[in-house]
Amino acid sequence: MKIEKVFVIGSGTMGNGIAHTFAQFGYKTTMMDISEDALKKALSTIEKNLDRQVKKGSLSEEVKQATLANITTANDYANIAEADLVIEAATENKELKFKIFQEVDKLVKPEAILATNTSTISITEIAAKTTRANQFIGMHFMNPVPMMKLVEIIRGLATTDETYNLINETAIQLGKIPVLANDYPGFIANRILMPFINEAIFALMEGVGSVEGIDQVAKLGFAHPMGPLTLADLIGLDTVLAILEVLHNDIGDPPAPLASDGRLDHVPVLPDLPFKDLMDRPFIAFRAFQLERVRYRHVLIPCSS
Ligand SMILES: NC(=O)c1ccc[n+]([C@@H]2O[C@H](COP(=O)([O-])OP(=O)(O)OC[C@H]3O[C@@H](n4cnc5c(N)ncnc54)[C@H](O)[C@@H]3O)[C@@H](O)[C@H]2O)c1
Repeated sequence: MKIEKVFVIGSGTMGNGIAHTFAQFGYKTTMMDISEDALKKALSTIEKNLDRQVKKGSLSEEVKQATLANITTANDYANIAEADLVIEAATENKELKFKIFQEVDKLVKPEAILATNTSTISITEIAAKTTRANQFIGMHFMNPVPMMKLVEIIRGLATTDETYNLINETAIQLGKIPVLANDYPGFIANRILMPFINEAIFALMEGVGSVEGIDQVAKLGFAHPMGPLTLADLIGLDTVLAILEVLHNDIGDPPAPLASDGRLDHVPVLPDLPFKDLMDRPFIAFRAFQLERVRYRHVLIPCSS
């Protein structure tokens, strides 16, 4: 089968990057979201990112226009039956993904391939909710999708060689470098990255260093392009939490240092606060530090205890 039409479910951080990339490489792409606002924002993000590529000289104005012409938006599944490949990039929530694929499975054509961009949820488990587990696969793009070369390809237990080969070849056609991972929690990327981010947050909470200090150590000491706290903000703290919860439940990583501090369970959750808002503070005073520590305990650490 040849993949020509792609249907992307979810137009957030990843969905718009995935739609952008497929459209740039000539695929007719539908970007679907239940939120009209998200779709509007996604289109404007794609346009801004294309402009940046043109400015840098990595894309011509003609390709930019062709890319935009290849993208249509939708707030339902009306034209999903035309799709050769469906990629789901909706919120990282197991029950939501189960529900989406149960519905999609009934609407797509028999030969369509179903893929999920999940960061960590079992491919085999999601595939089992459909009638075509053999045509189901994980296609885990990295953020920001148009820039990042890696695509992790995750085979579920029932994924056929035919499905794997087609998706592997498709990733190459998108200018990406696919790496095969087995279906374990977090696959390869998040199995390694998330404990690193988690530990950086603990280091902040315990006052080992400031936000800036921790990020500088990773940049200057490990030659990372950005620090773990900046990266956590880029991924989105809600997504980071969802991934950590799966890792905690499925692998049983040792509890975080603060997990045994019962007092923290009774303190209300503080409003959202990305790490970048703490950047200017050379050192976090103890009282403020206590508050942030509570906030991140609640936001980022699985609270099973
Ligand atoms: N953020 C990252 O860096 C990153 C990297 C790799 C993979 N992922 C994975 O990609 C997926 C999406 O993550 P994100 O960061 O783009 O999330 P996001 O919150 O930015 O976007 C999710 C989008 O899904 C939409 N959505 C929710 N329910 C839907 C439904 N039923 N149908 C259609 N759309 C629906 C929301 O309106 C939202 O626009 C998650 O599975 C996540 O784990 C994220």
